[in-house]
Amino acid sequence: MIQKWDPKSYAKDAAFVSIYGEELITLLAPIPGDKVMDLGCGDGFLTEKMAEIGCVVTGVDASAAQVGATKERGIKAVVGNGESLGLLDEFDGIISNAALHWMRRPEKVIANVWLNLKPGGVFVGEMGAKGNVSSVVETLSSLLERRGHDSKLHNPWYFPTEEEYSELLMAQGFNINTTSTFSRPTKIKGDLVSWLRIFAQSFVAPIEEKERDFFYKEAETALRPYLYSEKNGWIVDYVRLRFKVYRPTS
Ligand code: BEZ
Repeated sequence: MIQKWDPKSYAKDAAFVSIYGEELITLLAPIPGDKVMDLGCGDGFLTEKMAEIGCVVTGVDASAAQVGATKERGIKAVVGNGESLGLLDEFDGIISNAALHWMRRPEKVIANVWLNLKPGGVFVGEMGAKGNVSSVVETLSSLLERRGHDSKLHNPWYFPTEEEYSELLMAQGFNINTTSTFSRPTKIKGDLVSWLRIFAQSFVAPIEEKERDFFYKEAETALRPYLYSEKNGWIVDYVRLRFKVYRPTS
């Protein structure tokens, strides 16, 4: 199933994704005039922040709706998939927040990033690391298996270890500046069903449309003892992988 993004519900219920991403701009440390690509720009929140500091930005996203939302901010954006991007331009920096885990062919993504970076250019990214939202993945998978479906076919996410992703980056030729993995239990806005409706659409692909709300509700009920408290609401078990790498000058 193709994941569908609705910029309005994304901005309403998933704004925390973009806000956490601001730390990545600090890691990239762009200067005014730098050409920067935002790979998986979503609704363009981070792209706009970089434009505000004087970068010449291009947002890229596989969702035409999200590209439309980015353009509404007055930001250049194009529809494109990291796995098959080709050469758009030669950038000083490429930034990617919470998008790389949707791209299940990482070698292709890394090769396309390399292609679009000037020698000496910087690639910074943050994505889900191994163990990211593991309680959610396990619950959705077991609910699918119980209904006789092969859950692996419907899991859209790629959450590598730091070692695994570093090896892929180095195999392409990147020099590693820094990599880290850390837990970031993340408070979500609203209930878990709303989060699942935004992010976990692929898991319900084999379920009849009229049964999908029930499926999401069943997952929420199963996860409540682990992720919900009266005091804090819903806190999802995010684990992040963050890195900064360089394309060498020669
Ligand atoms: C994330 O790590 O940002 C994420 C991964 C899967 C679904 C939703 C968010």
